[in-house]
Amino acid sequence: MAEKIVETTGLMGWIDRRFPLTSLFKDHMSEYYAPKNFNFWYFFGSLALLVLVIQVVTGIFLVMNYKPDARFAFESVEYIMREVPGGWFIRYMHSTGASMFFVVVYLHMLRGLFYGSYRKPRELVWIFGVAIFLSLMAEAFFGYLLPWGQMSYWGAQVIVNLFSAIPFIGPELSLWIRGDYVVSDATLNRFFAFHVIAIPLVLIGLVVAHILALHEVGSNNPDGVEIKQGPKDRYGRPCDGIPFHPYYSVHDMVGVAGFLIVFAAIIFFGPEMGGYFLEYNNFIPADPLKTPLHIAPVWYFTPFYSMLRATTSDFTWVLAGASVLAAIGILAKSNLRGILRIAVPVLLIVIAVLLRTFDAKFWGVVAMGGAVVILFFLPWLDRSPVKSIRYRPGWHKVLYGIFIVNFLIVGWLGTQPVIPVFTLMSQVCTIIYLAFFLLMPLWSSKGTFKQVPDRVTFRAH
Ligand code: HEM
Repeated sequence: MAEKIVETTGLMGWIDRRFPLTSLFKDHMSEYYAPKNFNFWYFFGSLALLVLVIQVVTGIFLVMNYKPDARFAFESVEYIMREVPGGWFIRYMHSTGASMFFVVVYLHMLRGLFYGSYRKPRELVWIFGVAIFLSLMAEAFFGYLLPWGQMSYWGAQVIVNLFSAIPFIGPELSLWIRGDYVVSDATLNRFFAFHVIAIPLVLIGLVVAHILALHEVGSNNPDGVEIKQGPKDRYGRPCDGIPFHPYYSVHDMVGVAGFLIVFAAIIFFGPEMGGYFLEYNNFIPADPLKTPLHIAPVWYFTPFYSMLRATTSDFTWVLAGASVLAAIGILAKSNLRGILRIAVPVLLIVIAVLLRTFDAKFWGVVAMGGAVVILFFLPWLDRSPVKSIRYRPGWHKVLYGIFIVNFLIVGWLGTQPVIPVFTLMSQVCTIIYLAFFLLMPLWSSKGTFKQVPDRVTFRAH
């Protein structure tokens, strides 16, 4: 085997002959060429990393005093807040960190959507990202039971009960998840195990895979121009790129400073954030005999929770009717050829029958799960000839705008009590959300696109 050439001397040389420290640093930092035109939206990847570290570190300190026992869990959190030196700070960092994780990750995903960062060759970067998002949801859900407040208890009860809506295996499955007939000490213990070790390990593994995949293909940018395919200097480095370190490592400090100002302001002046980050009902110990009047999940779950609640029996009638009409439409007049001309209408009719065969609650779970799972397919749903929103037709931008406003509305509806007008609004929002993705293969290639430049564009500062 050829001897590896090690240029470093002294201690670094000693390490490099045994572990590729310098070459790792070069590959991922000082010789990783990132496009010159990163903007504000590119702060959120490094911020997500920062929040991950904050959560792990504060989590370790919380575990030192927290008791995963249904008799002591609530009091142990109060003990951390009142008696442990600096305990309140650690706990608020962790609870605020959970919400800020979702703020940062939602903005990070939105950036991906704007600039088509999920498109070839970054499909795996995106797929790892969606898996991270799913794990993050699981992590937050398991963690929320631990303070053993009223919302922890009843929130977990509602979500675990959802699994019982799955045909045939549902009731057994939810019993298996809880480890009991109701949420109990057994549930708390297993949720604790998942929250502190199982999911964090998965999360960290996925984040490493996410960044390795990104560094394999290189970063996208606001223009969607592939800098690796552009001109290169005499050393073979992309002319439109700059080394990540020191340029972006220093640049990201600005994002970190801005983030920490907001983060500290929330911790010191409003850690409950009006009941959005820490719900008021959760300051009451869990009482299995007293259901709170209004059970709502934490804000970051509400868009998906709202889609679950929107799926009523009436709504499945509407969807079944729409499927039948679509099937008739395709049979009567469609561009579909060959086997698809028959297969698609048949599939639609089967869906219509199934919609009315199984309980609406089950379809609610499908809608909620489908709203996340559909993100995995985004790289193949988008058929636009350009990546970045900058070069798309104006009406595409309008569609993106509608999608974002719709997501905010459906999220808000999830915090509200169930009244008919809100249910109707959630149903409309659910249809808009799913249609945005499902119809993307049809609309994303339509319209007049602007010419994408060969090189990344510069904006004068
Ligand atoms: C713990 C959560 C996450 C961490 C720590 C993380 C970290 C990062 C980092 C450091 C980058 C490079 C810097 C940047 O482009 O901002 C990046 C890029 C990227 N991330 Fe994430 N990420 C996370 C979650 C997600 C999620 C949930 C998605 C999507 C569902 C996602 C999709 C992407 C994409 C598509 C890129 C490439 C962007 C581009 O080159 O334009 N990430 N991520």
